[in-house]
Amino acid sequence: MGYLTFALTKGRLAEDAKKTLADIGLACEEMKEKSRKLIFVNEEQRLRFFLAKADDVPTYVEYGAADIGISGADSLLEEGRNLYEAMDLGFGKCRMVVAGPPEIREKMGRVNNIRVSTKYPNIAARHFYQKRRQTAEIVKLNGSVELGPIVGLSDVIVDIVESGSTLQENGLVVLEEVCDISARLVVNRVSMKTEYDRITDIIRRLKESRGV
Ligand code: PRP
Repeated sequence: MGYLTFALTKGRLAEDAKKTLADIGLACEEMKEKSRKLIFVNEEQRLRFFLAKADDVPTYVEYGAADIGISGADSLLEEGRNLYEAMDLGFGKCRMVVAGPPEIREKMGRVNNIRVSTKYPNIAARHFYQKRRQTAEIVKLNGSVELGPIVGLSDVIVDIVESGSTLQENGLVVLEEVCDISARLVVNRVSMKTEYDRITDIIRRLKESRGV
C-alpha cells in the first residue's frame, strides 16, 4: 500500500487540523513533539503528514505532492487551484472583509482609484473590479496589513477578521463583507480516483465525527 500524504496549514489552523485527524484515528506520535522536522510518517497506517505555509497547501495538493490538504478557504480562493473541495471542516471560522478608517465609509465608492493593501490580491481585485465595479490599485503586503491605512500606504484593506481585536486596537472598522471563511478538506483530483476507497472512507469518517 502506498503512502497517503496530508498537507496541513502551519499557524492558526494547525492544532485544529491535527486534532480533527486524530479524532478519526489518523495521527502520528512524532507530530505531537516540538521539533523542526518537516514531515511525519505513520508507517503502520501508511500515512505521511507535512506542514506548509497557508498559500502553499493548495499548490502541494494540485501538483499531487500531497493527496489531501487542510486549507483555509481564504488560501483556496486566492490561489484558485484545480482541486476537489471535499468538505467544510467547520473550524478556522472568520470573515474576509474590506476594512479601513471609519471616515472613509461614506465616500468609499467615490474614491478615485482607491488603494487597497492586502495579503490577498486576487480576492481583493475580484471584489473591487467584479462585485463593486470600482477601479482600485491593489498593493500586495505579506502581513500586518492593518498598517496600510494607518501609515498612508492605502485607503482600505482586504483581510480576514476573526475576533476583530486587531482592527479595533488600530482604529479601523469593517466597511464591507467579502465572504465567510473556514477550513476545508481538499483532495488532489488524480488521488481522488487512484485512492478512491481510502479517501472516501476518510471523508465519511470526518463527516461523521464532525456531525456534517
Ligand atoms: C490575521 C489577519 C489580521 C488578524 C485578524 O493576521 O491578517 O491581521 O489575523 O485577527 P483578529 O480579528 O482576531 O484580530 P495574522 O495574525 O495571521 O498575522 P499577519 O498579520 O502577520 O498575517
